[in-house]
Amino acid sequence: IRVAHITVEMAPIAKVGGLADVVTALARAVQDEGHEVEVYLPKYDCIDYSVVQGLENSQSFHWGSTQIRAWKGKVEGVNVTFIEPHNGMFWVGCIYGRNDDAARFNFFCGAALEYIKIYNIQPDIVHCHDWQTAPVVWGDRHNTRCVFTIHNLNYGADLVGQAMARCDIATTVSKTYADEVSGHPAVAPHLHKFYGIRNGIDTDVWDPAQDVYLPTNYTSETVRDGKALVKKALRENLNLPELDVPVVGVVTRLTPQKGIHLIRHAAWRTLERGGQFVLLGSAPDPAIQNDFNVLAHHLGEQYPERVRMVFEYNEPLSHQIYAGCDMFLVPSIFEPCGLTQMIAMRYGTVPIVRRTGGLNDTVFDVDTDAERAEAEGTLVNGFSFEGADAGGVDYALNRAISAWYNDKELWSDLVRIAMESDWSWNLPASDYIDLYYKAMK
Ligand code: ADP
Ligand code: GLC
Repeated sequence: IRVAHITVEMAPIAKVGGLADVVTALARAVQDEGHEVEVYLPKYDCIDYSVVQGLENSQSFHWGSTQIRAWKGKVEGVNVTFIEPHNGMFWVGCIYGRNDDAARFNFFCGAALEYIKIYNIQPDIVHCHDWQTAPVVWGDRHNTRCVFTIHNLNYGADLVGQAMARCDIATTVSKTYADEVSGHPAVAPHLHKFYGIRNGIDTDVWDPAQDVYLPTNYTSETVRDGKALVKKALRENLNLPELDVPVVGVVTRLTPQKGIHLIRHAAWRTLERGGQFVLLGSAPDPAIQNDFNVLAHHLGEQYPERVRMVFEYNEPLSHQIYAGCDMFLVPSIFEPCGLTQMIAMRYGTVPIVRRTGGLNDTVFDVDTDAERAEAEGTLVNGFSFEGADAGGVDYALNRAISAWYNDKELWSDLVRIAMESDWSWNLPASDYIDLYYKAMK
């Protein structure tokens, strides 16, 4: 199959959130199965092009009255065509955040399709991601079959609605999220062609056995000592003292979706229970950033030795937190799939999550989900809660902290089970390949 992904994010070069990780890892997994995959991405000025292999200017064409230059290169082994309009619409120093985002992405979609047409690329499938590339679905795609993936229905639902109507196959990124949005007006009329496929994680990028950002590497066999060393280094790095207490970690975009009030509450509760709390968060909204500055200040005043909050996007620190913490908190209000809980598990860090979307499909509560886990062919691997209130978080967090202190055997089982779970793209990629064939019929 020849697959053309049209997307505005791609890891690691143009990453804002999980969409970027998914595009790269899915593309690579499908390619590894012997298919031909190409990713089409705007040529942003804010990309580090030194990690693009063999970047070269290939063609020049016009879309409307705008001259477009196409560039070719490879990212993580995947072929990428960068689309560069010479009116400078992607030379604005950012991917999102301008009031002409929709117009810029609409233009990109048209230009990418034009490229595919005039250079006679003839893909079997165009695969589009979220509202940003929805215009491809109703664009001039010459009967090429189209798969449209919803990563987050909270944005651009009107565009997603139109794309849902016009695509051949629609997917979203977990089964539970597919159920949760099945009544949404953008989705409800199209259930006959709508599928939930859980995301995977790139197990080469996220691998405690070869992670270059860690001071030491480890496997499920050496996790005890390995994790202790990484935990020590994380504390040193953040200037936290070494205490015999659990460290709870969070790595997230700080947006309302991620359960901001629950993160705040969990921070206080963790410290009250004697633990340490480490947060790495990027806040696009200055008001939310301001709230967190205040929170960090109050927490730090009361518990100076036990809390650190770093407000930036920081890839190396994220790896150290995934590996160096004991528990990882994801209290999202909604979460189409969520990658961070799977990444944490890969590093032997036990997840504490709110039971929603993909979190529900990947985390099985120690006390309540043994049967559900068995039905999925897996084992209980963490802690979860339902209510979107303080009581909910407390229920899960208290049990996790108590288990860490009092039941070392259970804890080391959880760490091992988490590490040995298969969150790779192997299974989900083959589900996508099946759907590509279905779309081509
Ligand atoms: P979403 O796409 O909704 O943000 P996901 O869990 O699907 O949520 O993906 C988040 C991705 O972004 C993960 O790879 C995570 O490690 C990364 N990430 C989020 N916030 C940060 C941050 N502040 N610094 C570094 N990486 C981050
Ligand atoms: C969105 C969702 C997240 C999902 C990611 C990749 O950003 O918020 O849950 O994991 O897309 O599909």
